[in-house]
Amino acid sequence: MVLIERDSFASKLGIIAAAAGSAIGLGNIWKFPYIVGENGGGAFLIVYLFCIAIIGLPVMLSEFLIGRKAQKNAIGAFKSIKPGSPWYLTGIAGVASAFIILSFYSVVAGWVFSYISRSVTGTLIKVAPDQLGGYFDGLISGVVEPIFWQFIVMFLTAFIIVRGIKEGIEKYSKILMPILLGLLVVLMIRSVTLEGASKGLEFLFKPDFSSLKATGVLEALGHAFFSLSLGMGTMITYGSYIKKDENLGTTALQVTIADTAIALMAGIVIFPAVFAYGFPTDSGPSLIFITLPAVFQSMPLGGFFQALFFILVGIASLTSTISILEVVVAFFTEEFNIPRKKATILIAGIIFIIGIPSALSFGALSEFKIFGKTYFDIFDFTASNVLLPLGGLLISLFVGWAWGIKQALKEATNEGTVRLPLSGAYGFITKYLAPVGISIILLYATGILSR
Ligand code: PHE
Repeated sequence: MVLIERDSFASKLGIIAAAAGSAIGLGNIWKFPYIVGENGGGAFLIVYLFCIAIIGLPVMLSEFLIGRKAQKNAIGAFKSIKPGSPWYLTGIAGVASAFIILSFYSVVAGWVFSYISRSVTGTLIKVAPDQLGGYFDGLISGVVEPIFWQFIVMFLTAFIIVRGIKEGIEKYSKILMPILLGLLVVLMIRSVTLEGASKGLEFLFKPDFSSLKATGVLEALGHAFFSLSLGMGTMITYGSYIKKDENLGTTALQVTIADTAIALMAGIVIFPAVFAYGFPTDSGPSLIFITLPAVFQSMPLGGFFQALFFILVGIASLTSTISILEVVVAFFTEEFNIPRKKATILIAGIIFIIGIPSALSFGALSEFKIFGKTYFDIFDFTASNVLLPLGGLLISLFVGWAWGIKQALKEATNEGTVRLPLSGAYGFITKYLAPVGISIILLYATGILSR
C-alpha cells in the first residue's frame, strides 16, 4: 500500500485565511445584521460579544486541539484520542449537522449568487424600490431558479474541495479573503459618509437594554456558535491540518477577532445606510435582499456598490460552504478510503439533493409543514438551535472530562514550548461554565424549559 502524506495547511496566513473564511459567511453578513436589528441593536451586541469571548473562543480552541492532537477527521479524532469509547458519536452528530447545514445554507448562498448575476448585469438596480419585495419573492418562490443557483453553489464548493487543502481550501481562501476585506472597507467608507449615517452607528453601538428580551440572549449564543463555525467539527477538521509547531491559542484568538470584526463591519455597512434612507431595521432575513437594494438605489453609484456587495457576500459564503463540505469529505476519504474526488462529487451531489426541498420551501413546498415549520425552517432550527450547541456541549465535556484539561493543555502549549495565557480560565470554562451555560440555552431553545 502506498502511504500518501496527509495534506495540511502550508502557512500561518493560510490557516487564518481558511479558518476565518469558514467562520466569516452568511452568518456575519446576512444573519448578524438582521438579528441585531430584530433584537434592538447595541444591547444585543454586548451579549453577543460576551458569548463569543466567554464560550465561543474556548470552544474553538478545544476543537483545534482535538483535531491537531489526533490528526484525523471529526469522527476519527474522537476514536483516536479515546479509543473504544462512545465519544465518536459527537463526531457523527457533527457530520450529520454538516449535511443538514450545507443543504439549506447552499440555498441562501444560491439566492446571493442569483443576486450577483442580477446586480452585475444591471437588472436589479432597475427594479423600483416598492417592487423589490415581490422581486425577491419571485426568485425564492420559483422552482428552476432556486435549484439552479443552489446547484451552482454546490458545484463551486466541490470544485475547490476536490483540489484538497493546500491547493484548494488554502489557496482559494488566501485569494478570496483579502478581496472580501477590501470590498467591505470600500462599502463601509461609503456607508458612514452618507448623510444621517450617525443614527445607524448609534443604533448598533449604543446599548438600550430595555429592548433586549430573554430570547435575544439565547439567540446570541446560538449565533455565536453558528458564526464561529463551532459545534460540528469544522474546526476539528481544520485543526487536523495545522502543523504541530503552530500556536493554537493565538490562532483561535485571531480567527475569533476576525469573525467578530467582519460581523461588526457588516453592521457598519448596513445600519448607517438603512437609517440614512429611512428604512426599517427589523425586516429580518430579507434585510440584505430587499432593504439593501432599496438603499443602493437611493445612493450615488448604487449599482456599482450593489454589485460589489453581493460579490462580497458570495465570496464569504463560498469559503464557508467549503469548510462544511470538508468535514464530510475528510471523514469519508479517511475512514472508508474513498478517493477525494469521488467522495467530493458523491457527497456534494447528495447534499444538493437533500437541499432541494429547502430550495422549494418558499414556493412549491411552502405549504408542506412539520410542526408548523417548512423543510427549510426545520433544517435551520434543528442545526443552529439544537445540533451545534449540542456539539459544543459535548466537545467541552470531552476535553474537560474525558481527554482531560491537562492533556489538552499539553497540546495547546506544544508540549510546554509556548504559553497559553489564561489557561486556568480555559480549564474552568471548558469543564464547568460552557457545559452548564450551553445546557441552559439548549433547554430553552428546544422548549423543554420555558421563559
Ligand atoms: N460560520 C459560517 C457563517 O457564519 C457558517 C458555518 C456554520 C460554517 C457551521 C461552518 C460550520 O456563515
